[in-house]
Amino acid sequence: MDVFVIEGGRRLAGRLRVNGSKNAALPLMAAALMSDQPVVLRDVPDLADIRNMLRLLAELGCHKTNEGGARDVMCLHATERSNSHARYDIVRTMRAGICVLGPLLARRGYCRVSMPGGCAIGDRPIDLHLRGMRALGAEVSMESGDIIVKAPPGGLKGATIFLGGTFGSTVLGTANVMCAAAVAQGKTIIESAACEPEVTDLASLLTKMGAKISGAGSPRIIVEGVAQLGGADHTVIPDRIEAGTFMMAAGITNGDLILENCPTDALLSTIDRLNAVGVEIEPIEILRPAGFTADPLRQVVRVTCGRVIKPVEVTTQPHPGFPTDLQAQLMALLTLADGNSVITERIFPERFLHVAELLRMGAKIFRQGPTVIVSGVRQLTGAPVMASDLRASACLVLAGLAAEGTTLVNRVYHLDRGYERMEHRLADVGARITRISEKDAGVAEASG
Ligand code: EPU
Repeated sequence: MDVFVIEGGRRLAGRLRVNGSKNAALPLMAAALMSDQPVVLRDVPDLADIRNMLRLLAELGCHKTNEGGARDVMCLHATERSNSHARYDIVRTMRAGICVLGPLLARRGYCRVSMPGGCAIGDRPIDLHLRGMRALGAEVSMESGDIIVKAPPGGLKGATIFLGGTFGSTVLGTANVMCAAAVAQGKTIIESAACEPEVTDLASLLTKMGAKISGAGSPRIIVEGVAQLGGADHTVIPDRIEAGTFMMAAGITNGDLILENCPTDALLSTIDRLNAVGVEIEPIEILRPAGFTADPLRQVVRVTCGRVIKPVEVTTQPHPGFPTDLQAQLMALLTLADGNSVITERIFPERFLHVAELLRMGAKIFRQGPTVIVSGVRQLTGAPVMASDLRASACLVLAGLAAEGTTLVNRVYHLDRGYERMEHRLADVGARITRISEKDAGVAEASG
């Protein structure tokens, strides 16, 4: 297992490009199961979760056929249908494995998917996914920890489905139902659908494949079933969570970053809270050939922050509210604010494993249930800390960038699930950060 060694206190300045989105790419890859024609995806990030999804798709008969081609282009071709079992061994490493459920059911009328367990960010039920499949007429059963879903003899039938749950809608549940409905007979209306940009991106790939979908990005999605889907060529949207993480990295280091390929339009609540903190995000006008208009999901922005970080109140919410996937990173920033901030987590109320680690670095944080009060301190101090999940790891890296002295972030494999070459990209803009093995880290700690 690898460890990041961060020498804090260096101001970040320079240019970074935001990669394609992991959370958009995973369901897009699964959608390739729905056609016997190739699906080409561009700007796919090189991440552990993406490699795991490729492994899962290969087991299900869908292969990457452009090995050796451009690193971020993936041509996926579903050529066999003999195995429709997403095994525990793979699904347990990557919860997003659940997003093969809708595509497999749509194309093969049958699937067996290992029930994903809980994870570090809390319970992760899938009752809403299954409610959607049942509403389309599927039969759902459980066997040895696997969910088995079968289409009825006449095929799936369109229906009106309410997908709202206790904590709002479900992103991957909406993706699964949209995929299954795309080839069901008749019309499906998904009410209380997730409005996340990743759902809209999936709808645009499915539309290119021949599906008839309207309303994606709003709480009501209407799908008119078609007989079959073809191939498509699609560029993944930029990663709004990576962009937000870099914005906070600029904020916590009093930095000055230019972000290219920045999905500003998908980050309005994040930008609103960052502006309140004192982080400025300004679009940079670039000259375009006549006829080309600016894409609000692919902007160039300059991110700057003065010396004073102001305290804020923030509550995580489904899109377009403040994303839960940036809660931990914002908390790192607010540990250095000039006053008390309040963070309430409304999507995953237990997603606070980073709190205890930030305390080890000198932060002042008081948690009660889903709410945390962060009392800003003047300085964080470097310490050995333990990453527990993907976004908590990003939070600890940000804290380490600002802290006085050396921070060792253990278990960075969590970070590698969602941020490509994070240490190199941060080093390119001035951070002092290196990756070493756990064995070497033990030596560094003992001698340091
Ligand atoms: N929920 C239910 N029943 C369900 C499904 C969800 O009660 O059947 C609840 C969840 O427990 C949670 C809320 O609904 O309280 C939202 O969960 P959702 O289903 O939307 O989460 P997800 O689709 O499994 C995706 C992202 C997560 C991100 C959440 C919320 C991917 C691969 N994962 O998960 O990303 O936190 O949406 O925005 O897209 C991450 O990237 O670090 C990450 C965890």
